[in-house]
Amino acid sequence: MEISKVIFVNELGDERGKLAVIESNQLIPFIINRVFYIYGTKGEVRRGFHAHHKTRQALICVSGNCKVYLDNIKRKTDVLLDSPTKVLILEPNDWHEMYDFSVDCVLLVLASHLYDAEDYIRDYEKFKEVYGG
Ligand code: TYD
Repeated sequence: MEISKVIFVNELGDERGKLAVIESNQLIPFIINRVFYIYGTKGEVRRGFHAHHKTRQALICVSGNCKVYLDNIKRKTDVLLDSPTKVLILEPNDWHEMYDFSVDCVLLVLASHLYDAEDYIRDYEKFKEVYGG
């Protein structure tokens, strides 16, 4: 399995303003089958608290900023998403929690699979069983 990582999308801009492009299976390493966005999150809220069996995701703060805590058992780390050009490629085996949402935060998520509740691992003990090997 791949390791989650931060990549950067090119900023295309001219005197009118800025533009960034993401194409399916190009810069991000999977075909996008689902898009959702998280917004209006209260600043003190922490959400996520799960890993996946197969879904790969790309997280981008298209407005504002937030932090993402990642735990793949071997390493635990925090990523600050504070630019529309910064993309967190989040692999299924990372337990993740999003927190410290700014008031204006819009967190865009591109996902490799359609929504399937069965693909979620929401129990940390189960997560360790599945990925602790
Ligand atoms: P949830 O997984 O609790 O969000 P988070 O992991 O960010 O804390 O999702 C909130 C609700 O939205 C939950 O009832 C499931 C539903 N949902 C969908 O129906 N489709 C989706 O693609 C996603 C991401 C969530």
